[in-house]
Parts: sequence; C-alpha cells; structure tokens
Amino acid sequence: MGLETENKYLLKAVEAFNRRLIVISPEYKILAVNDSGEGFDHSKVIGGLCHQIFYDRPEPCLNCPVRKCKETGRPAMQPKPGEYADPGKIPCLYAYPIFNDDIIEAFVSLDFDLPVRGEFEDKAQSSNAFLRNLILSAVDGVIAADKKGRILIFNDMAAELFGYSVEEAMESLDIRDIYPGQKELEVMKALRSEDYGGRGKLRSYEVEVLHKRGEHIPINLNASIVYEGDREVATIGFFHDQRGINQMKAELEKTQMQLLQSEKMASLGKLAAGVAHQLNNPLSGITLFTKLVMEEYNLEEGARKDLSRVMEDAERCRDTVKELLEFARQTKHIRRPHDINRAITRTLFLLENQTLFQNIVIERDLAPTLPPVHSDIQQLNHMFMNIILNAAQAMEGNGRLGIKTIFVSEKKQVRIKISDTGPGIPDKILSHIFDPFFTTKQEGEGTGLGLSLVYGIVQNQGGEIKVQSIPGKGATFIIDLPIMPKEDGGSRSE
Ligand SMILES: Nc1ncnc2c1ncn2[C@@H]1O[C@H](COP(=O)(O)OP(=O)(O)OP(=O)(O)O)[C@@H](O)[C@H]1O
Ligand SMILES: [Mg+2]
Repeated sequence: MGLETENKYLLKAVEAFNRRLIVISPEYKILAVNDSGEGFDHSKVIGGLCHQIFYDRPEPCLNCPVRKCKETGRPAMQPKPGEYADPGKIPCLYAYPIFNDDIIEAFVSLDFDLPVRGEFEDKAQSSNAFLRNLILSAVDGVIAADKKGRILIFNDMAAELFGYSVEEAMESLDIRDIYPGQKELEVMKALRSEDYGGRGKLRSYEVEVLHKRGEHIPINLNASIVYEGDREVATIGFFHDQRGINQMKAELEKTQMQLLQSEKMASLGKLAAGVAHQLNNPLSGITLFTKLVMEEYNLEEGARKDLSRVMEDAERCRDTVKELLEFARQTKHIRRPHDINRAITRTLFLLENQTLFQNIVIERDLAPTLPPVHSDIQQLNHMFMNIILNAAQAMEGNGRLGIKTIFVSEKKQVRIKISDTGPGIPDKILSHIFDPFFTTKQEGEGTGLGLSLVYGIVQNQGGEIKVQSIPGKGATFIIDLPIMPKEDGGSRSE
C-alpha cells in the first residue's frame, strides 16, 4: 500500500472519528479540525483561537490540556469545562504533542467521554442482583408496593402464600387486594404510629390476609416504609404464615387440657376409692339392720314407711359408692371384642321402657357392619347409659334422641354420635362437664360423676370424646373409639 493511500485512509479515519479532533498551534491557533458532525464553518474556525471559538474566552482555559501538555511535553488529559449531562461519564479533552525533531510543533486535542464508574457499576450491579436474589428466595412472602398500591416486588413465597403468580401480581394486583375488608388501612395506620417498633416500622404485627381463593390466612407481619431522602416512596412487608404455629399452639393447649383432666381424674380417683371403701362397711350395716328390723318386728305402717325410705336412701348411697369405685377403676375389667351396635341396642333396650323415655323418639342410624372394638362390656354399657340418660334428662323426657354409628376407615375408628333436642350446654359450662362432681342438677339428683366416668372410659380405650352444642337446639356427643387390630383376633365379637 502506497504512502498516498495510507495518508488517504488516515484522513478518512480522522473524519470518521465522531468526536471533535483539532490540531492546535502552541499559540492555541486552530490549524485543522475534523468534521465531527457539529457542522461548523471551517473557513471561520481555521486560524481562530481555540478558547475563543469553542469557549468564547479571551484567554486559554485554565484547565486546558494543551496548556498542560505544553508545560510538560507529555500527553495530558483534563475534564472539559461545563456541566455534565450524563453523571456516569465525564467529558474530557486529551492533548498530544506533535514533535518536529525535539520541538513541539503543534498539539492534537481530542474530545471524548471518560466512563468513570465502570468498575463501581459492575460491583453495584452484582450486589443488586445478590440483594434481589436474597429477597426472591426469602422463606417469608416479601411484597413491596409503591404509594399507589402497585406491586414492585412479589417473591415466590408470596406467590405460594397468596395464590397469585408473580407475573399476575406484578401486572394487576393492588396491595389493597391482599387484605380483607378495611385491614389495609389498619396496617398503614399501625405502620405510621409509634406503637409497633417506631414510626414507619411494624414489628410482629398479627394480621389476616386474603388468599386469591378468598381464604383468610393468619400472618405475622414485619413491614416498613421505604424513604428516599424525606420522601416516602414505597412500603415493604415480610409475611410469615402463622397457620403451622397456630395449629401447634392449639394442639399444645389440647394436650395441656387433657393432662390436666387426667391429673384431676387420677387424684380424685384415689380420694374417691378411699371414701368409697370407708362408706361400704357402714352402708352394709345400715341396709342389713334396716332389713332385720323390718322383718323381725311388727311395725306400724308409719314406721315401716320411714324404714323403707331409709332402705331407699341407703341403696342410693350404695349405687353412688359403686359409681365411685368404678370411677376410681377399682373394679376389674375384662376386655373382649365387642360390636358397638349391639352394646347400644342393649342399653337402649334397658332404657326404652323407663317412664323418662315414654315421649322420646329414638332415631337409630347404625352402620350395617362395624369392625369390633376391644372393650369391657360393663364399661361400654356404662358409657352409653350415662350419655343417653343425660340426654333424656336434658330433654326432660320430651324430644328426639339420635344415635348414629359410622366406621371411619381411614382413621381405623368407630364413631358414635349421640344427639338430643334439649336446651344444649351453655358455653360457660362446656369446659367443665367432664369434671368430676360437676353437675347442674338439684342436690340429690345428680352426683356429677357420669361424664367424668365416660371420659375415663374413653381415654382408657385410646379414644376421644367431643361435645358440640348449639344453645337452645341440643347437644351432640361424639365418641371415636379405635377398632381392634386384625392380628388381635378381632373376628368374633360379642
Ligand atoms: N345432653 C346434655 N344436654 C345438656 N346438658 C348436659 C347434657 N349432658 C350433660 N349435661 C350437663 O353436664 C353436667 C354433668 O353431667 P354428668 O353426667 O357428669 O353429671 P350429672 O348428670 O349432673 O349427674 P350424674 O350423671 O352423676 O347423675 C350435667 O349436670 C348437665 O348440666
Ligand atoms: Mg349424668
């Protein structure tokens, strides 16, 4: 390639350079300028003074790189005078000396941008990505919204918790949609108050949110207002699902209740057993001698009546003692496979003809086949007897008694539901009805041991008893008893 061609290309390269390139004499005279797209008139520019033409100044600029280059004889770089539109770049001027032998003949001044934040930007970008990842993979639902309620951040956990896809939430969800009713206003009020961790902050705030399906979810919310300077720009919240914890709490409370109940039963059981034994002997004496007096002596009608009354009361005492002993499990139990339907039918057979049951309609809904349970028949009879009697007493002999049995195969349990149409059980006594000696009956009419005995029997079987009651409409007792495992030879039941 000839020198001429090379020179031609060099010239073309200078022209193609899209920024201003000037050749300046040591006296700041413009000797040549490229066509950088600024469209100035070359005839007016060439020969003019650089500082006058480009910066309208009588003297060379203070930070002129040509000036510096002139002093040092080495290339120099200086920021360009003026305001910078793009904060990421600083416009600069570069000056190179053009030597002729050892003397500087002229300077090339180049205009270009210095990308000052290159490395810093890379770091900022990677730490931004890291923070984003941190939020998106958080185990709590994270949601940020701007002041208008538009969603800015919605992580995967939020999507799982609220049932919206991330895209759906970002496009069309409003922060108000995730709270039921006016709850969003409450949260914003709490966020702006001093009461929950300081103004603009919310710590461990219990609130319910709304799933896309309309379900209410209990949440522990930590949130804050995001400020830019003094300006409020967004809110961010961390939503922790409380359902698991709440369930655990409920189970713990239930276990505590059961423990308390069995403790009560155990201590009262011992007491009852002691009292019952103490009473048994004098009671036998009373009945024996009353009988003797009634048989041996020729008594007047009045005295005979009084003594019959003594006998009746003594017998009632004996029954109570029997119940107490049963309650204290001092009697021996023989466990065999039993068909619950048969046990119920037998109890009903005994009760049906009693006067109390004359005006009670008994509705039986017994499962046609039930696997046997491993029980003591006396205890089963006792259990049904007590619950059915209570129901009849509550209905004061008038109403409907429902008895239903179901086999819950997935739980391997037999469920017995005994319901009545009596007045139901008031809420305030509901938690006491299984307590020993708790009764609402008149003195002498009830010992209050019936249901505590039932409770003990059910526990003994590894079962569970619950009560549901609608005041004014009746009560339903639900008993779940485990069926006998097959290998225990549960095929034959009585
Ligand atoms: N079906 C029911 N409807 C309304 N209240 C009931 C029912 N069953 C039980 N109760 C209430 O529970 C209390 C306790 O019942 P529980 O069987 O333990 O004792 P009681 O019936 O009062 O006396 P006892 O059974 O020893 O003669 C009753 O006094 C009654 O207030
Ligand atoms: Mg009772």
